Amino acid sequence: MTKLSTKHLLGIKDISVNDINLILTTAESFKEVINRPIKKVPSLRDITIANLFFENSTRTKLSFELAEKRLSADVVNFSSSSSSVKKGETLIDTVNNILAMKVDMVVMRHPNPGAALFLSKHVDAKIINAGDGAHEHPTQALLDAFSIKEKLGSIKGKKIAIIGDIIHSRVALSNIFCLQKLGAEVMVCGPTTLMPKYVNSLGVKVEHNLKKALEWCDVANMLRIQLERQEIKYFPSLREYSMLFGLNKELLNSLSKKIIIMHPGPINRGVEITSDVADSDQSIILEQVENGVAVRMAVLFLLAGRN
Ligand code: CP
Repeated sequence: MTKLSTKHLLGIKDISVNDINLILTTAESFKEVINRPIKKVPSLRDITIANLFFENSTRTKLSFELAEKRLSADVVNFSSSSSSVKKGETLIDTVNNILAMKVDMVVMRHPNPGAALFLSKHVDAKIINAGDGAHEHPTQALLDAFSIKEKLGSIKGKKIAIIGDIIHSRVALSNIFCLQKLGAEVMVCGPTTLMPKYVNSLGVKVEHNLKKALEWCDVANMLRIQLERQEIKYFPSLREYSMLFGLNKELLNSLSKKIIIMHPGPINRGVEITSDVADSDQSIILEQVENGVAVRMAVLFLLAGRN
């Protein structure tokens, strides 16, 4: 199989295992490309891509832009803070104006869950969801799966613990869908207040004791506490959170086996993870970032239908 069965990448929940595997296999070739002295290929030479960011981003925005440039696409960048959105323009009007300039693909990050799906129903371009509120972040899950596979050789049968602010995390939801589709066992761990009510419907193990979760897993994916999405207090203080759910070197070294540490970024050093863990030889945080470019190149290339 060399073609995706989907026109857009809106989330992991609704894409097939074959599509996920095709993206991961294609990303292996692009990882080889971006490690060559000449990192650029002409694959998307006459394709124009708009990156629309209605919410802050460092990794995802730069990673998509770099992936697009490595594929020789023409790129336009839009940031809501410096746009006519501030003058009251709607999402549809903003995007239709950009599409009138003959844009083929749209990469969009938006604070509202479902924004990418909404766009896909109203505009005639290929849409890639770069994170929609607390809903999904499909390319993060794909790069996380790629990184686990690269490190452990496979994903099937591996035990992955996702730890922290599950309720606000699009990374958690997309990772759960992706890892389960690829045959991993998934556990979520965190305080009860940071678990969504529907957690039991996700088919994951639920644990509230960090040490037990770490002893169980092969890989721990530490999530950021998303204070910007917390309108109420979900725990007494960051200090208490980090005492109960923060990963430090002493705890890591006390485990009976060496586990892999991941984090989607941005890191709150000293809250969910200490610096000596984030920067340790068990951490693959920067490998995740490197793999993000290759995975996004694969997604763009396959959705453009250039294979
Ligand atoms: N992982 C992630 O989405 O990071 P950014 O918010 O910096 O894009």
